[in-house]
Amino acid sequence: MAKAVSHFVCQSCGRTSPRAMGKCPNCGAWGSMVEELLAPAPEPARAGGSLALLRSTPRRLHEIESGAEARLHLPISEFARVLGGGVVPGSIVLIGGDPGIGKSTLTLQMALEMAVSGVVLYISGEESERQIKMRAERLLRNGDSDPVFPPNLLLVTETNLNTIVEHIRAVQPALVIVDSIQTVYMPELSSSAGSVAQVRECSSRLREMAKSSNMAIFVIGHVTKEGVIAGPRVLEHIVDTVLYLEGDRFQSYRLLRSVKNRFGATSEVGVFEMRERGMVEITNPSEAFLAERMVNAPGSAIAVTMEGTRPLLVELQGLTSTTNFGNPRRTPNGIDINRLLLIVAVLSRRMGLRLSEQDVFVNVVGGMRITEPAADLAVAAAITSSLRDLPVRADTVLIGELGLSGELRMVGQMPARLREAAKLGFKTAVVPRRIRRVEPWPEGLHIVEARSLREAIGFALLEPPSKE
Ligand code: TYD
Ligand code: MG
Repeated sequence: MAKAVSHFVCQSCGRTSPRAMGKCPNCGAWGSMVEELLAPAPEPARAGGSLALLRSTPRRLHEIESGAEARLHLPISEFARVLGGGVVPGSIVLIGGDPGIGKSTLTLQMALEMAVSGVVLYISGEESERQIKMRAERLLRNGDSDPVFPPNLLLVTETNLNTIVEHIRAVQPALVIVDSIQTVYMPELSSSAGSVAQVRECSSRLREMAKSSNMAIFVIGHVTKEGVIAGPRVLEHIVDTVLYLEGDRFQSYRLLRSVKNRFGATSEVGVFEMRERGMVEITNPSEAFLAERMVNAPGSAIAVTMEGTRPLLVELQGLTSTTNFGNPRRTPNGIDINRLLLIVAVLSRRMGLRLSEQDVFVNVVGGMRITEPAADLAVAAAITSSLRDLPVRADTVLIGELGLSGELRMVGQMPARLREAAKLGFKTAVVPRRIRRVEPWPEGLHIVEARSLREAIGFALLEPPSKE
């Protein structure tokens, strides 16, 4: 009998077993037995004795070179910014997202751009070489002329990790793309591709490759229904950088968000639009998000949210409509349901709005998701505006968090938000009253400080036409 190379370990109590089991015999947890290799896979650093010694010699701080890592230039500037300025050699980056959101498209675009300066190896376990070529043709087509393929982009369809490692050794690329980590498997493990064990072992092995050969590796991962990358977050610890590609599948905007970055700022965001010929960078997203706005229509308000270090103006729409039967519905699209429930409760109790027999819908235009409370005031204004059928002043942005007593609370990074609003031609901003005056408000914008929601909305809504 062949010697066992792996065993199963319970993730909650640590009990081991030679066989796969649905339930841990020790602590009784279901689905907690995850396969692990008994001996770690051979790694180049451990095999080569002197090299390994050299790599791990303790050094004094002043002997260590600091300064910016040399980065490979990435011409897609929104992408480069999210990465922290470019691709870091020796790093491993995970790009996660829902199926069909555009991960393969964006990485292939990157591969095409990077292959101009260095060798790029694109390993796909999802699509055939022909399919990828057809996509490349689509991305490179320019008018009627034939696409010009970069000579340094190599494609291979492969899922066996050992073969992949051999390919990487043979080609010695500067950049490797693995699409997707869920299709790759190590034959030494009995678990199937995409399982926690496979995802963990394969990505650890790839990380070793990246570090020892100083190449950048991009790994694509699908997000499961629960919203985590398969292999409950195991991947996030292994890689240097985690990027998520987000967006509404039925909308064309896509946000590339960094949630972990060892080489740059986290929560940096790049905005793209999925078009006929791939992902196009949106360098002025606020303008794009406001492009279809109907000025002076009731139920619309402009919020300024921060996505990482970047202020974004977004339109929030609210609609109230009489409930026909049963409980009134609260339907958010792009904001958290609990946030909406809180705002509706504050509007009812502190503003006296009769929302108990109204269905309330809130929509963030452009398929964005807003997670910060700074948009509370705009949500509240959009709902009030719809209920009263009065438009919000068209040249006004609304920024502020709502407290339970109906007070407005200050939010962070106000100057950056206000500058972005001024840049886009807004004239007025309704903001929470400041307690500490640290620096003057930015120029070029009329600032209305409001202590309460009532005060803010009283200013923001246009007066009803006087009946004469
Ligand atoms: P894809 O990159 O295959 O998604 P993922 O790898 O995240 O699963 O993107 C698939 C979608 O993108 C598909 O619905 C077609 C669309 N698409 C475009 O709209 N324009 C394009 O130029 C390309 C290549 C794809
Ligand atoms: Mg894909």
